[in-house]
Amino acid sequence: MAASMRMLLSLAILYVGFHSGCSFTDPQDAAVLMALRDSWLNTPPSWGESDDPCGGFWEGITCNNSRVTALDLSNNKDLSVSPFPSFGILAGCNFTGSIPDKLGKLAELSFLALDSNKLDGHIPPSLGNLSKLYWLDLADNQLSGPIPVSPGLDQLKNAKHLHLNKNQLSGTIPEQLFSPDMILTDVYFDNNMLTGPIPSSLGYVQTLQVLRLDSNALSGQVPSNLKNLMILTELNLAYNKLDGVVPDLSNMNALSYVNLSNNSFESSPAPDWFSNLPSLTTLVIEYGPLMGTIPGKIFSLPHLQQVMLRNNAFSGSLNITTGVSAELTLVDLQDNNISSIVLGYPYYANTLMLTGNPICETSTINATFCRVQQGRKPL
Ligand SMILES: *[C@@H]1O[C@H](CO)[C@@H](O)[C@H](O)[C@H]1NC(C)=O
Ligand SMILES: *[C@@H]1O[C@H](CO)[C@@H](O)[C@H](O)[C@H]1NC(C)=O
Ligand SMILES: *[C@@H]1O[C@H](CO)[C@@H](O)[C@H](O)[C@H]1NC(C)=O
Ligand SMILES: *[C@@H]1O[C@H](CO)[C@@H](O)[C@H](O)[C@H]1NC(C)=O
Ligand SMILES: *[C@@H]1O[C@H](CO)[C@@H](O)[C@H](O)[C@H]1NC(C)=O
Ligand SMILES: *[C@@H]1O[C@H](CO)[C@@H](O)[C@H](O)[C@H]1NC(C)=O
Ligand SMILES: *[C@@H]1O[C@H](CO)[C@@H](O)[C@H](O)[C@H]1NC(C)=O
Ligand SMILES: *[C@@H]1O[C@H](CO)[C@@H](O)[C@H](O)[C@H]1NC(C)=O
Repeated sequence: MAASMRMLLSLAILYVGFHSGCSFTDPQDAAVLMALRDSWLNTPPSWGESDDPCGGFWEGITCNNSRVTALDLSNNKDLSVSPFPSFGILAGCNFTGSIPDKLGKLAELSFLALDSNKLDGHIPPSLGNLSKLYWLDLADNQLSGPIPVSPGLDQLKNAKHLHLNKNQLSGTIPEQLFSPDMILTDVYFDNNMLTGPIPSSLGYVQTLQVLRLDSNALSGQVPSNLKNLMILTELNLAYNKLDGVVPDLSNMNALSYVNLSNNSFESSPAPDWFSNLPSLTTLVIEYGPLMGTIPGKIFSLPHLQQVMLRNNAFSGSLNITTGVSAELTLVDLQDNNISSIVLGYPYYANTLMLTGNPICETSTINATFCRVQQGRKPL
């Protein structure tokens, strides 16, 4: 008993000696992090207390066997639900500076979250060397310049989450960025200044579940092979300059949310997929090119909740009759060309919006659906 106490004590002394004398962190990883500390403003106070990120418990750093495996300096409190509950969440960091090239040398890094800071400059191509990275979140900064490829983000074959949204990235989305050996589940590039076409190579990434390219300046036709994204649940291409035909989303049976508002698509009748996507909950095509009658079948999609089609050119009769989805809460068809209506279900105030259609111009009509303006109240 006493012997083992003595043993423990000397081990503890050894440990302290080791701890103060040397570093736990792999020297190259330590050098990278010290370079980060020197190049960024507002790094956490714990970063100043030692030169040993792993042994000195730097906030936002996770290590395994002396290698840095995760770097989480995001300002996003929601990250407390991240797969790493032990992470320190650094609220209100407001880091400024750029992302150093050296970061690409943290070879064991699997998680890199620098979102919601004030980082500027370009995305360094060296991030492509982070071959173990499965999570890359640079969203909500002030990053500019192109999305780097070869070398660059096309090399991230183990990444599932690629979030570059809410920056000032420009240039095209390179065709080389995506390949069949990737395993991305979500791609967020929205709210940047990206131009040019949507790369058809996106269609190779059949693991994709969420694709957000909205609020950029993308142009050209939507590539037809996006149809291969069979488990995609959310597609947002709104607020771009896309042209050609309204994309064919037939058989993309996992789609729940579709938003194609404010583009430059060719005028056409409602596409067939309006009536055929079994998981659809939300369909948004505002300021769209659609004309002809609205297929009544859409309102029978079992999970449909919101249909937002204002400012198209739908005409003729609107038919909302039998088998309407029990979950339907909003049908917004303001500013179309609808002249009559067949309502076969007990619709509630504010669920149907038809102001700005010929049906509301006739003096005999004084229905709720003609009086509702913008917005809606809860049922
Ligand atoms: C730490 O790294 C080893 C390999 O070096 C690996 O087997 C182990 O799963 C890792 N542990 C964690 C928690 O990631
Ligand atoms: C971060 O910057 C924003 C915008 O400049 C500011 O409103 C906020 O107070 C800052 N937060 C902290 C913790 O400094
Ligand atoms: C990636 O790593 C290789 C090998 O270590 C190195 O030669 C190359 O310069 C690195 N690439 C970038 C862009 O840093
Ligand atoms: C459609 O997408 C645009 C661009 O992101 C967004 O502003 C708008 O709120 C979306 N509409 C709906 C109903 O989700
Ligand atoms: C959407 O398009 C309409 C018509 O072109 C325009 O009035 C509106 O400002 C656009 N909305 C956005 C957010 O760009
Ligand atoms: C309305 O739709 C129902 C169901 O799809 C159909 O049976 C009916 O004939 C349609 N009525 C009109 C006027 O289009
Ligand atoms: C509205 O629909 C009528 C036919 O119902 C058609 O004659 C007219 O051209 C349409 N107006 C617009 C602006 O599309
Ligand atoms: C329309 O109906 C509302 C509520 O039923 C009523 O308050 C309003 O006076 C009516 N307007 C006209 C022009 O009949």
